[in-house]
Amino acid sequence: MIILSQLIINPTYEKMIPALTAEEYDSLKDSIKNNGLWIPILVNQDNVILDGHHRYKICKELGIKIKHAVRTFPTKLDEEIFVIECNVKRRQLDDLGKHKIYEKLKPLYKQRAKLKQIEAGKKYGENHPKSLRTNDHKLSSKEKEESLASTQAANEVNLSRKKAQRMDHVKEQDPKLYEQIGQTDKITVNKAYTIIRKKEKRKLREKEIKKLQVHLPKSIQLYNQQFQTLKVKPKSISLIFTDPPYHDKFLYLFEDLAKQAGIVLRDGGSLVTFVGQGNIGKIIIIMEKVGLKFHWPLVIKHTGPSASVFGKKVLVGCKIMLWFVKGKYEGEFVSDIKESKFQGKELHEWAQSTVESDYYIKYMTIPNEIIYDPFMGSGTTGISAKKLNRQFIGCEDNSKDENDYFTIAQKRISNA
Ligand SMILES: C[S@@+](CC[C@H](N)C(=O)[O-])C[C@H]1O[C@@H](n2cnc3c(N)ncnc32)[C@H](O)[C@@H]1O
Repeated sequence: MIILSQLIINPTYEKMIPALTAEEYDSLKDSIKNNGLWIPILVNQDNVILDGHHRYKICKELGIKIKHAVRTFPTKLDEEIFVIECNVKRRQLDDLGKHKIYEKLKPLYKQRAKLKQIEAGKKYGENHPKSLRTNDHKLSSKEKEESLASTQAANEVNLSRKKAQRMDHVKEQDPKLYEQIGQTDKITVNKAYTIIRKKEKRKLREKEIKKLQVHLPKSIQLYNQQFQTLKVKPKSISLIFTDPPYHDKFLYLFEDLAKQAGIVLRDGGSLVTFVGQGNIGKIIIIMEKVGLKFHWPLVIKHTGPSASVFGKKVLVGCKIMLWFVKGKYEGEFVSDIKESKFQGKELHEWAQSTVESDYYIKYMTIPNEIIYDPFMGSGTTGISAKKLNRQFIGCEDNSKDENDYFTIAQKRISNA
């Protein structure tokens, strides 16, 4: 038996282990009160507590005699590792708690591996158990140390190495978000990692865009304004290929588009517009009011992730474009179904792929004709028009949006 006052708390050791919640502490206290101290407090040869800081505190509060056992280690480092490891095994930790311990163990394992290497005078890594070896034979010995320590620490706290590395990354990029992991259902490790990756990808694209120069030929005219105020020469446009905002509250934009299309389309010209599936009927009525004829629906098949409309129990596998004609269509045959390509949304939340604009511009018009996109966004239609040697008029009003889509469109089209 040891006298309570003879035990020493090393504050560094005490901080190495995660504190119990108030609830956990009370429950441990009740158990010790009712059953006595079952698990002895582990101390080193100098009576410094290695394991049992909470139990020690509770025994002091309750005035209970303590049992102890002495553990000795060949080095201070082994002792430090033990202090952490024996706690991990007993505690119920969530991902964040596990990762915090993983972070403490990793540098210690690295240090131990280095010492072993020096001792053995051998190349590091040769004698490590197979289960801890990683696929990293191409790494430098420093990177190997890092990688092995990371695998070992992740194994010890029962986190997959991938998860641990993802959490490392989230912490490095956004410490606040890291602290939220697991604290609400919404922020899982994967969710936090996805948020960070999305931001990183966006920054990368923005950097790429910054590097691009704007050199637009005369055949390409871009306007940063509301399309309703743009003066386009009457009967000059062969194809309006566009993608207005879909939401019901923007239906008035289709009315404005119809009015303008009626004036600027030349005879035989087409208007091809993406539409929200829910408003197809209304949009046909709006367009036909100004004398455009509904020609055909065009189905653009999704290839990337697709959405579900829960209210209607529909798994969405395609986008719809409606094709209207002023007078009689003069272009070539086109297919009414086209498989699109997944388009990342880093540059514009609603960016479309160029697959469909390439295809319909190519077959509905001939070189040098004018293509008009009044809702240009990040400039997808303009890219296709330029590549196919058509003239292009694009309009984008993002005055209500924090993203500078107009500049993005200018640069993308310039560099197409
Ligand atoms: C669905 S997005 C077009 C995305 C585009 N297809 C792309 O691939 O990037 C519609 C765009 O129309 C713009 N817009 C909305 N109202 C407008 C208006 N009255 N005049 C011009 N542009 C407008 C929005 O800022 C938005 O960028």
